[in-house]
Amino acid sequence: MSEILSAIEQRRARRALSPDPIDRDAIETLLRAAHLAPSCANHQPWRFVAVDDPEILARAKAHLSSGNYWADPSPLIVAVVSRPDLDCRISDGREYYAFGCGMAAMNLMIQATELGLIAHPIAGFKQAPIKGVLGIPESYQLITLIVCGRPSGDHSALSDKHRIDEVSERIRRPLDEVVSWNRFAFDDQGPEPAA
Ligand SMILES: Cc1cc2nc3c(=O)[nH]c(=O)nc-3n(C[C@H](O)[C@H](O)[C@H](O)COP(=O)(O)O)c2cc1C
Repeated sequence: MSEILSAIEQRRARRALSPDPIDRDAIETLLRAAHLAPSCANHQPWRFVAVDDPEILARAKAHLSSGNYWADPSPLIVAVVSRPDLDCRISDGREYYAFGCGMAAMNLMIQATELGLIAHPIAGFKQAPIKGVLGIPESYQLITLIVCGRPSGDHSALSDKHRIDEVSERIRRPLDEVVSWNRFAFDDQGPEPAA
């Protein structure tokens, strides 16, 4: 199998994290991988706030959704931050900043997997107070937090559902539900809006 596909298959949004610190060299490798992502007109719209200070981490974690309790031991959270005007804004309404940040985040996550780390992106947090904790100006959007750590191998602190998820096969719709050839052939009902 292709080595790249194998790395992509190994990456999972796992939750059983060890509190062991991640050294700065490894963190810089993650950030370099992220920063090598492509972007529209090479605008590089991503800004990363790498949080490894235990006191600041604790203050930020206080504003995660309750379902993200599992992030508590994490020794590193990377906040992915941008603003619409930091990337292409095409006159027909397309805005590319979040797309660029998504590609950068994926590079980081794949690199983390290769280093034996978990890197789990989350949207479940209160944006305003975390921006306050990290000093992120109001004009920026906190797109995601990537919760990182070494796998602990100990699933006992996970909820029943998360304990099952942690070892389950990956769930994806069949490829032919998301691919059509030569002509658009989808009839999508979007997911319920998230809070
Ligand atoms: C934008 C985004 C937001 C997410 N938010 C959360 C979250 O708040 N809590 C959580 O446990 N997982 C979160 N996830 C992880 C997804 O649930 C996970 O990626 C998905 O179930 C697929 O599993 P896999 O990554 O192991 O393939 C998020 C993923 C993305 C990309």
